[in-house]
Amino acid sequence: MSCRLSVDPKHSYKHEDLDQTDGTRIRCVMGFGSLLLGCFLASGASLVLHTANPHSVCRSCDPRAGSCSRQNCTSNCNVSKICPNPEDVCAGVWWRDDGVVTIETMCHDPTRPLHGVMLEDFSSSGCLLTSTFTAGRDLRLCACTGHACNDRVLLDNQTTPRIEKRPYQLPQLCRFCDIESTTCNDTGICEPSCTISAVCESPREVCAGSWRRMNGVSVVETVCYDPEVQFHGQHLLDYNSSICLMRPVKTSEDFYICSCNTEDCNAKMIFTDPVVSAEEEKNGIEPMLLLILVPLVICALVMVSFFYCYHVSRHLKAIKRKTTGTDIETYTAIISDDNSLNHNTELLPIQLVVTVGKGRFSEVYRAKLKQNISGEPFQTVAVKIFPCEEYASWKTEREIFSDTDLRHENILHFLTAEERKAERQYWLITAYHERGNLQDFLSRHVVSWEELCRLGASLARGVAHLHSDQTACRRPKVPIVHRDLKSSNVLVRTDLTCCLCDFGLSLRLDNSMSPEELANSGQVGTARYMAPEVLESRMDLENIESFKQADVYSMALILWEIMSRCSGIGDVREYKPPFGTFGEHPCVDSMKDHVIRDRLRPEIPATWNSHTGAGFLSSTIEECWDHDPESRLTAQCVVERFDDIISSAVLLPDSSEQKSPDSSEERISVIP
Ligand code: ADE
Repeated sequence: MSCRLSVDPKHSYKHEDLDQTDGTRIRCVMGFGSLLLGCFLASGASLVLHTANPHSVCRSCDPRAGSCSRQNCTSNCNVSKICPNPEDVCAGVWWRDDGVVTIETMCHDPTRPLHGVMLEDFSSSGCLLTSTFTAGRDLRLCACTGHACNDRVLLDNQTTPRIEKRPYQLPQLCRFCDIESTTCNDTGICEPSCTISAVCESPREVCAGSWRRMNGVSVVETVCYDPEVQFHGQHLLDYNSSICLMRPVKTSEDFYICSCNTEDCNAKMIFTDPVVSAEEEKNGIEPMLLLILVPLVICALVMVSFFYCYHVSRHLKAIKRKTTGTDIETYTAIISDDNSLNHNTELLPIQLVVTVGKGRFSEVYRAKLKQNISGEPFQTVAVKIFPCEEYASWKTEREIFSDTDLRHENILHFLTAEERKAERQYWLITAYHERGNLQDFLSRHVVSWEELCRLGASLARGVAHLHSDQTACRRPKVPIVHRDLKSSNVLVRTDLTCCLCDFGLSLRLDNSMSPEELANSGQVGTARYMAPEVLESRMDLENIESFKQADVYSMALILWEIMSRCSGIGDVREYKPPFGTFGEHPCVDSMKDHVIRDRLRPEIPATWNSHTGAGFLSSTIEECWDHDPESRLTAQCVVERFDDIISSAVLLPDSSEQKSPDSSEERISVIP
């Protein structure tokens, strides 16, 4: 047995099925989920990075004239910058040319030389200039650690926090009001109301201040103070500052101290350095906000575009489907995708319209699903209704349909199952196909060669998918056998492709089936379409392939039915089911006589073999209804045979197309 036909080794099999579409959608949704997660992680990470690793804030100005008093110089720089690297310290370069002092301030990576010099002491809170003479120029450098600590450069050999040598010779003038109550709180600038200033007793002393809140009352303190002595238990680290910048005392929330060393500098106790805070707003908060907001804004834009594209493509697909057949997308949008029982106590708003079919255990209705989707007041659906006595059949079919891997364009699209308790009924709600079942269709229409290929190939694709142990995306799938394949269990879609329906006798061939279950699953189906081994109850029930082989036999009879109504390959007679001469409902025994004893099969007219394509197809059919189940082709082989027939241009010219002798038959339009 070979799948291949010798006419054309070229073979192209395309999987353009719903599974792949679903797969793409799943991937899109997963991609979207990761995107969302990524966005939050990115902005979160940027926030964490920013807050976990504080960068120094330093004065940062190009060289400019400095103002010097006694032993220190101010840089006259009011621009502070958040340093780009967390390791950076603040640095200053001081030089004097012709008596003019110039100061440059910057952030600096202490592991690199500055003007060719490695800075050794950068951990002190004051920027103490160490002398370096370069090319006869008096050039000095300093580095320090602390908020804008390079605002002022110190010309003497002092370090903090311990001061060995005081740089000041004259006693300082400071605000000296001791403790007084104040209306200040711990923001902005606090100015004591008292205006008493005093020349400090000792030249060692600097100006100091404190603010604290006790029992809801705020007090400020202004004094001269010797920085070598702890002030409220704290070292005065910044006593060389020109401004009295408040810093919180670690042990208490409502307690701040400051120190400074310019005239009356403690008359203004500053909780936030206005220059730095303004700069911080610009250089610190803004970048931080940007770090958080930029990824979020980008993500929002990506998401909006993603949704927009997704909606447009869905809309286009919906429009396309409306023109070709059942709007599966729309249905899927209406009804939960879990493909099983509608557990929602609210039943779908469905109005039954007309009966379109009657089966052994159920009746099928065309119905209106009254939900406004894409501007349509309702969608047409099919409802298969089982009376409560047929609960088992409803349950079997529901279970088969509940396997989402079953989804395929050549398998009837299942929407949901409902228990209609009030009516004592069980419902299966599926897509509706207005062309009805293949048997009715063939009895009313003749088909062209192209239409025959379209119907036949799609039928084989449906059976192959059902039997397959993997989805189109190569995920493992439970093979299913139909066990009641016949033309009345095949529906014709608007685009003249087939889809299989009525899975009431189907069997899932998973490993969970016990030998007893297999043994009991013997002879089922419709006698006319039963394979010889089924008629004889001689199937090898332990071999799952034998169930598939029986389905292939039935499929061969359906392919013959389609061929028998093809006008492109010879005379078309009135529609007759296979073995149509054996009565309307031949029983198993009569079928056994014909099919097993007499080895009869439906007739293959000689004209079919006079056309290449039809000849190939008839021999394919014959291989599928072989008496020996093992010799039959698989459904997948039949798919490939159709592909070969179609792609190797053995398509027949349809010029010989004839109208059926039955004048009541209408010609159907050919879908290009
Ligand atoms: N007959 C049985 N099921 C049907 C369906 N889903 N659509 C149209 N006719 C049907």
